[in-house]
Amino acid sequence: MRDQTRGPATNPVAATTVCVIGAGYVGLTAAACLAELGHEVRCVESDPLRLAALTRGEIPIYEPGIEELVARHTGSGRLTFTADTAVAMDGVAVAMLCVGTPPRSDGEPDLRQLGRAATEVAACATTNVALVVKSTVPPGTCEALELFVGGQAREGVRVRVVSNPEFLREGRAVWDFFNPDRVVVGADDPNLGQLVADLYPSDWPLIECSRRSAELVKYASNTFLAVKISFANEVAALCEALGAETDKVLGGVGLDARIGQAFLAPGPGFGGSCLPKDLSGFIAVAESAGRPAEVARAAQRANDAAQVSVIAKVESALGSLPGRTVTVLGLAFKAGTDDTRFSPALALVRGLALRGARVRVHDPIATVSDPAVCQLDTPYDAAQGSDALIVATGWPEYHDLDPTKLRAVMVGHVIVDAVGVTAIEPLHDVGFDVYGVGRGLATSFAPVLWRPLEWMLDAGQPSTIAARER
Ligand code: UGA
Repeated sequence: MRDQTRGPATNPVAATTVCVIGAGYVGLTAAACLAELGHEVRCVESDPLRLAALTRGEIPIYEPGIEELVARHTGSGRLTFTADTAVAMDGVAVAMLCVGTPPRSDGEPDLRQLGRAATEVAACATTNVALVVKSTVPPGTCEALELFVGGQAREGVRVRVVSNPEFLREGRAVWDFFNPDRVVVGADDPNLGQLVADLYPSDWPLIECSRRSAELVKYASNTFLAVKISFANEVAALCEALGAETDKVLGGVGLDARIGQAFLAPGPGFGGSCLPKDLSGFIAVAESAGRPAEVARAAQRANDAAQVSVIAKVESALGSLPGRTVTVLGLAFKAGTDDTRFSPALALVRGLALRGARVRVHDPIATVSDPAVCQLDTPYDAAQGSDALIVATGWPEYHDLDPTKLRAVMVGHVIVDAVGVTAIEPLHDVGFDVYGVGRGLATSFAPVLWRPLEWMLDAGQPSTIAARER
């Protein structure tokens, strides 16, 4: 199989010098992958610690494949890091903004980092520049940003803003970059749009559109994914209540090609820095446009409910939480990343601690800095003396936990597999009660819900009904 960190076997690109602002998950991936495509990339990072790590060749994030790419292209000279935007922007006509847009408490994204970065780029530009917004922003942001930075550039330099949202998943970002479902370029001038589209191989699927359309493609895509997961969680909850088989039900639903299997896995709710943030951003935008997004709102409520229901299961299985010891396996918001932003696993840890439980945790790479939480080196150390254990992130090492070893170290016999990765039978065989989301033991009685028995009415009382109708 082709090495996925190698440039794709696709059409070559004309080499361009690109300045990438921000070396986070998005910026560092874009910078390294653009260098792999053949561009000269100057990456600006303002955090001195992060920059120092990068210049030493250390990668400050966990993202498979990035380390090799960065090493290859700092070596080839196509990738450099600096804190100095002026140095990076000298003679450069394409600058990519890859800064964070974290959610504010009212659900709208905080665009201050974007404004600061854009101002700095505009002030440092020595030639006309396309300011490419990769960060996820509400529709209308690129247009506003262009007006905002228009006056900051030096005499004779024109700064125009293009939307080019990224669709990378953490943990698979390099693979996703080289295997995109689509490249979206939103520009008000086709030539400018072409300049940005030409950064990518010409055989990658391209959508050229207006800037607000491009911005909305990203928001709507993440919102749809959020809705899909919340729907799956709702179906799983219903399966639990009815005693139906969630894997068969959702498997059967997903086999419809119009629906698809992806993002139908039930769990403790979606997390991460993107889906929760973009869902609330979408809701806020829809609200301000006078078109309340009822489906998106419902997905948000369902996600909160999915998180709460995992704690409720532990509580119901143990009787009560205060003074009990609960192990949580996993801190990252999903397997394959060290990111704990809006992590359902971390929410579980905090929720349990808040309800008086002693919490012991394990994660292969993510960490938590909370004095109330004890983090151990192995799942079995973390399970030592516990009354209950929750699998909260689907790391591969939790798929085949040793049931006998776990049983020997734990005091209690309750396991809640919130992400559905363990085999229930072997755990059950050594005496564990296993609960899950849409699988495992039920925490409530599944009622027999017979719908109105019309056929019996038809069979038994035809003359009465007929008489009444007459
Ligand atoms: C998401 C999108 O998938 C990317 O396309 C997008 O580029 C990115 O946001 C972004 O906006 O930057 P990411 O947040 O890395 O990517 O993670 P996902 O793989 O989408 O997972 C998000 C959450 O949904 C996780 O908590 C995951 O466990 C959960 N999930 C996912 C489920 O609960 N069930 C599923 O079936 C799939």
